[in-house]
Parts: sequence; structure tokens; C-alpha cells
Amino acid sequence: MTSLYHQTYENWQKDPGAFWQEAAKDIDWMKPADHVFNPDNGAYGRWFDGATCNTCYNCVDRHLEAGHGSRLALIHDSPVTNQVSRYTFAELYQRVNALACVMHDHGVQKGDRVVIYMPMIAEAIFAMLACARLGAVHSVVFGGFAARELAVRIDDAKPKFVISASCGIEPNRVVAYKPLLDEAIELATHKPDHCLILQREKLECELVDSRDLDYHDHVGKALDQRRIIECAEVAATDPLYILYTSGTTGEPKGVVRDNGGHMVALKWTMEHHYGVKPGEGFWAASDVGWVVGHSYICYGPLLHGCATIVYEGKPVGTPDAGAFWRVIQDHNVAALFTAPTAFRAIKKEDPKGQLIKQYDLSNFRTLFLAGERSDPATIEWAQEHLGCPVIDHWWQTETGWPMSGNAVGLGALPIKLGSPGVPMPGYDIQVLDDDGHPVKPGTLGNIVCKLPLPPSGFPTLWNAEQRFHDAYLSEFPGYYATSDAGIIDEDGYVFIMARTDDIINVAGHRLSTGAMEEVLSSHANIAECAVIGMADAMKGQIPVGFYVVNDGVDFEPADLEKELIQLVRAKIGPVAAFKTAIGIERLPKTRSGKVLRGTMQKIADQADWKMPAAIDDPLILDEIKAALIKKGILEKEAS
Ligand code: COA
Ligand code: AMP
Repeated sequence: MTSLYHQTYENWQKDPGAFWQEAAKDIDWMKPADHVFNPDNGAYGRWFDGATCNTCYNCVDRHLEAGHGSRLALIHDSPVTNQVSRYTFAELYQRVNALACVMHDHGVQKGDRVVIYMPMIAEAIFAMLACARLGAVHSVVFGGFAARELAVRIDDAKPKFVISASCGIEPNRVVAYKPLLDEAIELATHKPDHCLILQREKLECELVDSRDLDYHDHVGKALDQRRIIECAEVAATDPLYILYTSGTTGEPKGVVRDNGGHMVALKWTMEHHYGVKPGEGFWAASDVGWVVGHSYICYGPLLHGCATIVYEGKPVGTPDAGAFWRVIQDHNVAALFTAPTAFRAIKKEDPKGQLIKQYDLSNFRTLFLAGERSDPATIEWAQEHLGCPVIDHWWQTETGWPMSGNAVGLGALPIKLGSPGVPMPGYDIQVLDDDGHPVKPGTLGNIVCKLPLPPSGFPTLWNAEQRFHDAYLSEFPGYYATSDAGIIDEDGYVFIMARTDDIINVAGHRLSTGAMEEVLSSHANIAECAVIGMADAMKGQIPVGFYVVNDGVDFEPADLEKELIQLVRAKIGPVAAFKTAIGIERLPKTRSGKVLRGTMQKIADQADWKMPAAIDDPLILDEIKAALIKKGILEKEAS
């Protein structure tokens, strides 16, 4: 099939309003928009201004009304509990309504915030949809974060209601969620009115007082009574959710997503980018705590009428590296979306792809990778063993859907290894130098998108309009600064090379080294520190901390290292994967005192590096190298 991509992109360029108006026909609106795009509303304009709608209605109710109630909507596949549960759209409707009724009974109304802190279970999706139904704004917090991170989010979002579970299940341990939630509420200044807790068999928890409500009791009763609550009419521009993501130092940034534009964009991608049809199985092997989980475990597939898979397991070890192929076979998955790190983990355990042959993957068509750079070796391995197109695509929490990719629904373009494809309609991606001038094709620079962002693009940060401007809009006026550096080649393919801020990417998880440095610095014995992201064959990057102790401190390096590792785990969470802290005498700095993290990273990665002209004392870099050798990270001959 000849690709319709170029023609589609041109159509969008010629008339973005007409393009998105056409796409909006696939959504059921309560009231149509006054303006498809209103440039005078918000920081750079708003999409579908004046329209009203409900996202839950579009994900659930309308499929019933169209006679598809018996179609599979959601499959919870949990190798860690040996359970598989299936829900049709009709069942999903009942579950979501019952939960929404309970929330409403306890005072949750349109505009109220609700924090969802849950493992990968079907109830996490019910909770998101129940919020959407009521017009409440959810904020899902990833289970791998520590209590303090949860507390920060509670204080920023100020939820009236929290929905959580007694525990999450990791292959090596049961994670007790309730004590983390209790601690977070204790730490937070804001106190939610109620916490609805789902008791899980593996580890039940105590419900302390009238603040805590038992999910099974309350929702079970509402379900038995088949209670229904109408979908709230919300403005297309009203927030559907807040999703916190790591930002340049300091507090996480609350990315705000609206209702209308989000639905339009996601629905468009399901057909055109991912090339799936209603009724097919779509699996994003991520977590509801990340944007991938929001867009492509919850909203995208359900808007499109696909069966979505909520997988509570890992690519390896639950029980083996064949887990993904079993899920694809058992649930008729047509398209899988995951992070390259998952494939690197599988490839390591099953290099010849032997396990793939044990499963029937005949309905499987396409593998999509995102979240971090896809290394060509991983793509080639997947292509060879799966025999299907492997599509790398690039996007961010801030956009909610692919900025660049390869729209297989429009007919795939040739794949260039190392590139996450070409700009999607909606995105005018450019590469600018530090002074804001466009660079020639093939030249490295700052990747930006010309404003406005398309539907689903975040209109602001929650409670932080100024930060939104400072972090994203002010550096290159008229453009959204992605904080990614890269190139666009002669054929228009984008290549993402690095972040321009302090973010590192660990197993597809976006983490701030600045936040880790803050934690290390909070230790009484630490004078100063630097955290870098070091290349890792499995996780893409892993954090490595360098610290200098206060003068006169008598310490045992091994003990201090353990304390620092534990501190990061306790304050940020296990997801930080912070496992290495190295004591050094001094940090390499420029004469003006800037820590040379970039050079330290290149030394750790054994990449080529130049002596920074402004370095204070070049000898310190030898000390860094020596410390890495002593730690066993670099080999001696590399010195
Ligand atoms: N709740 C609590 N803890 C969690 C968690 C959760 N939801 N998710 C992860 N963690 C913990 C893990 O148990 C691990 O803890 P440990 O230090 O005690 O072992 C730590 O956080 C790091 O987790 P992770 O980065 O997932 O590493 P891993 O070693 O457990 O697994 C992979 C490695 C490659 C299998 C895993 O990273 C993976 O499946 N990656 C897929 C990437 C992905 O989904 N990215 C999302 C964006 S698309
Ligand atoms: P997140 O907001 O957590 O989805 O992380 C977004 C960041 O992940 C981007 O800014 C990139 O740095 C990185 N990223 C996501 N997808 C890709 C990709 N396909 N290739 C390279 N980097 C990616």
C-alpha cells in the first residue's frame, strides 16, 4: 500500500482547523465547538472551545448504544496472581457506574481532584473512567514512587478522594501500598476526605477510621443494585487529568490534559498511527502511572472500541521471557506497544527467540516502541524474530500522543533504524540552534514544535502557569521546547539524541537527576554531589551518584553508600533504580562553579570527550575516572 502519510500531513498543514474538525467527527459531543481552535484562549489557544462532552461516555456508553455491549473491553492478565479477568463493554459500564456512584455519594463532583494510587489492576481503569464520568480530575500516581513523592502530588492536586489498593505485587516482593498512602497523607498538608481501598488477597490492610472506605463493600453494593449515574457534561477544555512528570529540578510538573482535544487526537491515532480496528486487541505493556498507560492502556483503545490489556507482570520472570508472546496469543493482540528496555530484557534471556515459536502470533501485526531511544540492535532482533514491522515513535507526557512516528494505518513509510519516524500531523517539528535559528537538515540542535500544539497538547501545568511558560514557551518564542536534542534528516526523519535538561531515562521511566541530587544533599554528611545517567545495556541509562563528604566526617564508604541508596529509595522510590553512590574528594567544575556533569557522563560511558575549556582543575577528571575504575564500573585499561 502506498503511504497516505505525506498527503495527510500536507492536508493538516494546509488547514489544521479543517483537519481536526474532520477528526472530531469520530467523537460524540454533547454540544459542538464554537471554534475548532480559539487562538485567544489560553497560552497558545485552545481546541474545541465551547464544545461539551464526556470522555467516559465516549469510552464506554456509546459502544453499548451502538450494540457492542458484549464485545470485550478490558482484560486483566496477572501472572503475578495467576488470574485473568475479562470485562465486556457492558460489564465495564456497570463497574464504572458503580464506582462513580460511590464517589458521588461521598461528595466527589465535577472539577474535584481524585488521586489514584493503584497497581496494574482493572480497578485502576474503572477509577480513571469513573472520574471522567463525574467530570472529576484524576491524578494517577505510579506505584513505584515513595510516600514523599505521593505527598507532593497530594499537596499540589489537593484531592478530595483517593482510590488505592492494599498492595501491589512485584515479582520479588509484595508492595504494601496502604502504609505508603498513610505516610503520604501524614506528610501532606492537604488531607483528602476519603480513601477508597481495594483489599487484595495477597496482603490485606487495616482500614483505620471513617476516612477509609472498603472498595468491595461500597462498590460491591452499588454493583449489586446496578446503580447508574449520568455522565457529567464537561467543557472540551476542562481538565480530564493531571499527570505529574519529572521536571528540571524541584517539584514534579503537573501536566494538564483536557477532555475534548485528547479524545480527538487519541481516536485519530488508534486508526491512523497504530492501524488497529475496533474489536481488536490492543496492548500497551506499560503502567497506568505513566502517560503511555493513560493514553494507550486506558483512553485510546477504549475510545476506539478495542479490547485493552491491563498486564500485571514483567516481560521476563513472570514466569519467563515468553510472557509477552503468551499474552499476545491468549488475548488476540493485534498491536503491542512497549518500551525498548522490555525487549532488551527478553532478548537477553531468549537471544534466539526460541520462546516466540511456542505461541500462535498469527493475529499480531505490529510492534510499537517508545519511551526511550530504540537501539537498532533491539529493533533488528524484534524484526527478525517477530517478522513484523517494528515502529519506533517519539512523544512525551506533555503531548499525550506521538509527535513523530510511522503511521501504519496510513500505510507505513520505510523504517530508518535509530529514528522514531516523521512528524505526525499536528506537529511542525523543527530543530533550532541555541539562539533560536533553524539549523540545516542533519545538524544537531534543540527539537521544538511550532505552536500551537495539536489537540491533546497540554494547555498549562496545574497550579503553575508561570512555570509552564518558563519551562516550555519562553526559551524559543512561538515554539514549544521539548527539552530533547536531535536532528531531522533530509527526508524529514527525526532522530532523538539526548535531553537538554537534567532528565535521564531509566527503563523508559523519566527521572530527574536534580531530584536525586536533592535527596543525596539532604544527608547530613554530604557536602555536595552530582548524579549522572550512565549508559546501561538493559535499562538504557542508570543513575550514578558522586558525593563529597563534609570535612572532618569519619565514615565507612560502604555504609554511607548503603545509606544514600536507601535514602533515594525512601524519598523517591524504587523506580529511581539508584544503586550506585561513589565517594570522591571533589567534583569537577568550571571556574564559575558549574558541575561538569556532561563530561563525567562521557567518562563513565567511555565516550569521546574534550577537556572543557573553562575547567577549574583538569586533574579532577582523572580522579573521577579512577573512582569509576575502583568501583568496577570502568576497566583499568580504559584509564
Ligand atoms: N510498584 C512498586 N514498585 C515498582 C513498581 C510498581 N508499580 N514498578 C517497578 N517497581 C520497582 C521494581 O520492583 C524495582 O524494585 P527493586 O529495586 O526492588 O528491584 C524498581 O522499581 C525498578 O523497577 P524497573 O525499572 O521496572 O526494573 P526491574 O528490574 O524490576 O525490571 C524490566 C526491568 C526491563 C523488566 C522493566 O523495567 C520493564 O518491564 N520495563 C518496561 C518499561 C516500561 O514499562 N516503561 C514505561 C514507559 S513505556
Ligand atoms: P515521558 O514524558 O515519560 O513519556 O518521557 C518523554 C521523553 O522520553 C522524551 O522527551 C524523550 O527524551 C524520551 N523518549 C520518548 N520516546 C522516545 C523515542 N522513541 N526515542 C527517543 N527518546 C524517546
